[in-house]
Amino acid sequence: MHEIKPGVQYVGAFDWNRRNFDSMMQTPDGVTYNSYLIKGETATALIDTVEPRFVEGLLKDLEGVRRLDYIVIQHTEQDHTGALPVLLNKYPEAKIVCVAKAQTLLQYWFDLPTDRYMIVKDGDSIDLGGKTLTFYAMPWVHWADTMVSYLKEDRILFTCDLFGAHIAQNELFAGDDERVITAAKQYYGVIMAPYRNFITKHLERIAAMEVDLIAPSHGPLHDQPAKVIAAYREWTSDATRNLVLIPYVTMHDSTRLMVEMLVEELTKRGVTALPLDMATPDTNRLAVGFIDAKAIVWASPVVMAGAHPNVLYAALFANYLKPKAKVMAVIGSMGWGSKMVEQLTGIIGDPKVEYLEPVIGKGIPREKEREALALLAESISQKF
Ligand code: FEO
Repeated sequence: MHEIKPGVQYVGAFDWNRRNFDSMMQTPDGVTYNSYLIKGETATALIDTVEPRFVEGLLKDLEGVRRLDYIVIQHTEQDHTGALPVLLNKYPEAKIVCVAKAQTLLQYWFDLPTDRYMIVKDGDSIDLGGKTLTFYAMPWVHWADTMVSYLKEDRILFTCDLFGAHIAQNELFAGDDERVITAAKQYYGVIMAPYRNFITKHLERIAAMEVDLIAPSHGPLHDQPAKVIAAYREWTSDATRNLVLIPYVTMHDSTRLMVEMLVEELTKRGVTALPLDMATPDTNRLAVGFIDAKAIVWASPVVMAGAHPNVLYAALFANYLKPKAKVMAVIGSMGWGSKMVEQLTGIIGDPKVEYLEPVIGKGIPREKEREALALLAESISQKF
């Protein structure tokens, strides 16, 4: 337990050794499940709980708490609600404070009596005695059920997944540590990016609040809130970088050589390229690339008439994460027939994407492929 402001305590859990989140995101620096205890003069509230495996630690942190009036559930995913049944049992007077959608989703997991709920709407407040919590519905950060909570007297905004980062460290405050922004970008890229239009509107509401501290439910607290808000503004905007992302796989080196030729041709034209070998997919780098890149070139050998499965995975992931890039192309190598171009372009559902002329060679790339890749590089550079 750590006091972050008088009457506001951190009671979260450190999952130092977790290396994968949602079976989708790499977490080399571990994960935290942040929970906060707020003690007013007349009532006590807990903001979010922890992953089920960490219930014992939370109970230990709450040992001296004889009465808990409110358990605020800002989002119903299990990493924040796992301890809820145990806490409701320990504190029979406690009400679950959440939006109506969260109640619906919670009941999918737990059969809780309806009188345990206190449903709030956007702008509703609860008075803890000298500490006032106001709730703002902010759907799709990360699910439809999500709200944030504002503690007026201490100017703290509790944001659950929004502004979260997967870094487990006992230094609770981010300060100006760039690692936190880097991790927050990866988290945004994998978890939040599909909802950027919603987040853009939420950011405007948050910017109008007087906030000294952003307290997310994953990773360090942002004691320089303007910094992470500005970063989120950039990530959610249409702005991209002078960057071509090239997710690729090679089997007999011909696709790798084509990628290298394309990179050389892009370099000649002052365009930055980021080839990502998908043989061992790095979803964090891929998701960050989807935020930054102005163009994407999918590069694959033909496998049984289609693209390599790992490149298909990257394209499926792109379709889910909605990259900003509106210029794409397919390059690769085949032995005989191929439906690879149709297969890859068919996966990307964004009707605004313009596909440039593909370059599909046979075997080791030679001068003919070099010339075609130079033309592709030229077409890309004209779009930048
Ligand atoms: Fe941290 Fe969407 O749960």
